[in-house]
Parts: sequence; structure tokens; C-alpha cells
Amino acid sequence: MRTQVVIVGGGPSGLLLSQLLLKSGIESIVLERKTKDYVLSRIRAGILEQGMLNLMREAGVGDRMDAEGFVHDGTLIAANNETFRIDFVQRTGTPVMVYGQTEVTRDLYEAREKAGGKIVFNTDGVVIHDAKTDAPYVTYTVDGTEHRIDCDFVAGCDGFHGVSRKTIPDSVRSEYEKIYPFGWLGVLSETPPVDDELIYANSPRGFALCSMRNANLSRYYVQCPLTDHVDDWTDAAFWDELKRRIPEEAADKLITGPTIEKSIAPLRSFVTEPMQWGRLFLCGDAAHIVPPTGAKGLNTAASDIHYLYHALKEHYLEGSDEGIDGYSQKALLRIWKAERFSWWMTNLLHRFPDQSDFDLKMQQAQIAFLRDSDAAQTVMAENYVGLPY
Ligand code: FAD
Ligand code: DHB
Repeated sequence: MRTQVVIVGGGPSGLLLSQLLLKSGIESIVLERKTKDYVLSRIRAGILEQGMLNLMREAGVGDRMDAEGFVHDGTLIAANNETFRIDFVQRTGTPVMVYGQTEVTRDLYEAREKAGGKIVFNTDGVVIHDAKTDAPYVTYTVDGTEHRIDCDFVAGCDGFHGVSRKTIPDSVRSEYEKIYPFGWLGVLSETPPVDDELIYANSPRGFALCSMRNANLSRYYVQCPLTDHVDDWTDAAFWDELKRRIPEEAADKLITGPTIEKSIAPLRSFVTEPMQWGRLFLCGDAAHIVPPTGAKGLNTAASDIHYLYHALKEHYLEGSDEGIDGYSQKALLRIWKAERFSWWMTNLLHRFPDQSDFDLKMQQAQIAFLRDSDAAQTVMAENYVGLPY
């Protein structure tokens, strides 16, 4: 087989890129290790920046998102026994949207299938060959049969555990990582959200977040030790812990019910450099991970896709390789800023096991400064709604 761009990974990054390329008449084939149902069952991100919304619209898949997504003009921060609000629209003129990653992925799959775009599921043993030459190719097996696709470029959109990043030799690759000493226990429940807006809470018992997917679907998280197992947490224990960490008026009106999903995610900051090696480009979680505080995971994947899509368009439609050559540098400049924001927000809102009294005072002072300073709120809002591409 031959195509112009092989996309390894059928998560949001890979699907979005394939759909954007299709709109510009550039051919691609997506290789996904799992089944479509498996990819759709992963409950992950919930908050989309304008940049991501615009890309979805540009890819021709924004209609359901615009009809069903919830526009959020601000967020609540609860700490030190009080709650204050940061108004994104007042500070930056820009809101964010609540629309789940599951829905994003579903819309992208539907559009790709409707357009007759090729997605190969259940691929095994993907190997990227000759990425440093002008004629790369990718091999893989499905049901034991080996396949080969020759191509011009390979987009590595295969997440943190994929093969693309590891294709870049160790001698070329630098990795930067920070592991946080806690995780997030998250639940999904078919109950109305406790508030119209998100509540980020720093409590003496640890961080908690009240989020949502729609008017009858809530997403809640509590910080937990890395040694905890999901099975140790009954629904009753989760609701009890959440109520103890959020403001009293929210706890009093919280509607609880059976959870329909429960999982623990570790928190990590990670960046690999460079994000390009010859004709192989890394996008999204294949290249970087942020701790979830601040909802930057999916949104940073989107900015990579924006840069790569424009670079490929320039290559094929305008005959310029400026975008291709500058991809890694351009993408990383924005990624590091999102890494900084996620790291800052994680430090601001969590309780660390080795936190001294001095550290706690610093955290309280930072929160008080954020509450009282217009400038600090503008900085927070500017980052939360997404830095420009
Ligand atoms: P992925 O979604 O990981 O997709 C990669 C795809 O590649 C997968 O479908 C995988 O099956 C496939 N793949 C992997 N290896 C291969 C291979 N060798 N061959 C073929 N295919 C392969 N972000 C937020 O903003 N908010 C959140 O609340 C949030 N929660 C999260 C919870 C968890 C448990 C995790 C893991 C992430 C969370 N994120 C969150 C981050 C966000 O979901 C990711 O940033 C986003 O999914 C990145 O998309 P991606 O397409 O780059 O990678
Ligand atoms: C969600 C996750 C986040 O990490 C965040 O900062 C906001 C919302 C969510 O899953 O809804």
C-alpha cells in the first residue's frame, strides 16, 4: 500500500490530523492498536480551549460540539475556607467549552468513516522504517498477516506508551520528567453537576475537582495516594471524601448516585525533545504529558496537530518545507508553557506528603495573591483558556 501520511494511533490526535488532512486533499491511513469501542470507552479530558474548538470546526466536525457543548465563562477556586471565581471572559474575552474527549473521538470517527477514510484497527507490531530518508515506510500485522505502507511522512500520534517516540534513537532524544507523589481518583456519575461551573478545591485532606460532561453527567476527582487501588474505593467512600474536601455549600447540595466509571490516574509531567526526526513527527501524548490540573492534555495535543497540519499543507500545496523544518521548535515553545501552567496549578492546589509548614504558608499566600490580584487572575485565565497558537 502507499499513502502520503501514515498516522500511528487513532486517539484524538491521530483522528483530528487525518480529518484535517482529508479536508485539504492529503491522503492518510490511521493505524490503531485497539478496537474502536475500546478507544471510545476511555473517559478522559473534558475541557476544550478555543484553539481545539476551531480545529474541530475546520475539520468539519464541530456541529454536535457547538450544539451540545457547554460554554464556561469562568471557574471557581476553593481554598483556605473560602471560594472565589476567575472570570475567563472578563479577563481574556475567551471562554472554554465542556465537551468530553469521548464525544470528540466519536465525532471524529463518524466523520472519518463517512468520508471513507482508512482506519486499520487491531494493528500489532507497528515498526516505523527509514524515517531519516525521503522514503519512509511502516510495517505492522493484523491477525498475523504482515502489511507494509510506503509513505512521505509518519505522524506519531500513539500516546505515551506508543512506538513512535522510541523510534527516535536515544542519542538524539532528551526526556524531561517529573513524577508527582499522588494520583487522581476520578468517577463519572449520572447525576446533575453540583455547580454550573467547575470547582477546583485545595483542602487539608487534599485536592478535589468538581467537573461535568452534561446536565446529567458529573465528573469528580479526588487526590489519592499512589498506593490506592480503585477496588478499595466504594462509591460511598468516594462521595464522603469528596464532600469533606469541597466547600460546605457545595457539599450540602451535592447529588450522589452510583458511579458508572471509576479509575486512578498517576500525575506526571513529561516532555521529549525533539518532536521530529527526519520524516517522523510526534504529536500529543506521544511527545508530552501534563498532570491533569488545568485540563491541558488534550489541548496541547490539538496545538501540535495545528502546527503539523499547517506544515504538511504548506509542503503539499505550496511547495514550502519551512513549517516541516520548524515543527519541533514551534510546537515545543507552546508545550513548555502549558507544562509550566499545569505544574504551577498542580503545586498550587495539591497537598504534598512532604510539605513543610513553610511550604503550606507559601501555597496559601499564592492562593491569596491569585484571589486579590487582577494581574494574577489575568495570567491564570490567559493560560487556562489556552495560549495562542
Ligand atoms: P491517546 O489518547 O493516548 O491516543 C493514542 C492512541 O494510539 C490510542 O488509541 C492507542 O491505543 C494508540 N496506540 C498506542 N500505541 C500504538 C501502536 N504501537 N500502534 C498503533 N496504535 C497505538 N487530559 C485532560 O485534559 N483532562 C483530563 O481529565 C484527562 N484525564 C486523563 C486520564 C487518563 C487516565 C489519561 C491517560 C489521560 C488523561 N488526559 C486528560 C490526557 C488526555 O486524555 C490526552 O492528552 C489525550 O488523550 C492525548 O491524545 P493522543 O491522541 O495524543 O493520545
Ligand atoms: C476535567 C479534568 C481536568 O483535569 C480539569 O482540570 C478540568 C476538568 C474533566 O475531566 O472534566
